Amino acid sequence: AAGAVGAIVYNNVPGPVNGTLGDPAAGKIPTGGITQADGQALAAKPGASVTLDLRAFQEARTSYNVIAETKTGRKDNVVMLGSHLDSVTEGPGINDNGSGSAALLETALQLGSKPKANNAVRFGWWSAEEFGLVGSTYYVNSLTFEQQLDIALYYNYDMIASPNTGYFAYDGDNSDGVGAGAGPYGSGELEKTLVDYLQNGKGVPVEGTDFTGRSDYGQFIAVGIPAGGLFTGAEGVKTAAQAAKWGGSANVPYDKCYHQKCDNLGNIDRVALDRNSDAVAWALGVYATSTENING
Ligand code: PHE
Ligand code: ZN
Ligand code: ZN
Ligand code: ZN
Repeated sequence: AAGAVGAIVYNNVPGPVNGTLGDPAAGKIPTGGITQADGQALAAKPGASVTLDLRAFQEARTSYNVIAETKTGRKDNVVMLGSHLDSVTEGPGINDNGSGSAALLETALQLGSKPKANNAVRFGWWSAEEFGLVGSTYYVNSLTFEQQLDIALYYNYDMIASPNTGYFAYDGDNSDGVGAGAGPYGSGELEKTLVDYLQNGKGVPVEGTDFTGRSDYGQFIAVGIPAGGLFTGAEGVKTAAQAAKWGGSANVPYDKCYHQKCDNLGNIDRVALDRNSDAVAWALGVYATSTENING
């Protein structure tokens, strides 16, 4: 809550901007004065002109994750898949992350008509990822230690149909030797299952991408749950070598509409969405049947 007195409430202020206060106070401090977020009165008289850091006027809101789980299968060996459902305020968020959310939804619908699997399957559509992984972090922390142990693995799907597609799987075994790699709990096996399917099954070469902490796997890894996932690139730029093997344009971002208004229905590579959605379903099928290869 901003604690603003005088009905000045700015919603959805995008970020670190300093702005001059406009309507409804026309740049002047209202009669009631202004109470700051820390509860202090603003040390300026009503009627004075003022410049405010509008971040202080963001509204506190409650957001909701959507969790769905099969009724059948082992509840103590859950296969979990997640995608964030929210977007930034600047754009509609179709590639980021309608793509991952839709892949999970279709996978859940298809799974629903199949005979029961050995392990329970749980889907998480996360809220407020763009505000700092809020929904997924809350979810993991809301579980007891036992409930965390019951999750055998977590697959994350955030941006899986970027128009200038890169085919990346989170580098669980740090095989490229670049960056921090997975830390102790990324999983080479989870990576391998996706890579095998796309590379050997579909002939699509896959590169590793580091666990940078930029998506919802963060808290799963932090509590020791093996994680993996797919990613087709955001603001990063495709190299000439990548364009040669994947097609698309070198020296252009994987998603030139990342976090922008143009992240609309035109901002999807449907071939990538199709291939990656198949990989989502395949990996789910593998681990819903057995998690032996990750449990040793
Ligand atoms: N999580 C980022 C976002 O939603 C996208 C991203 C995913 C970036 C994975 C890097 C790696 O904006
Ligand atoms: Zn985003
Ligand atoms: Zn995202
Ligand atoms: Zn790897």
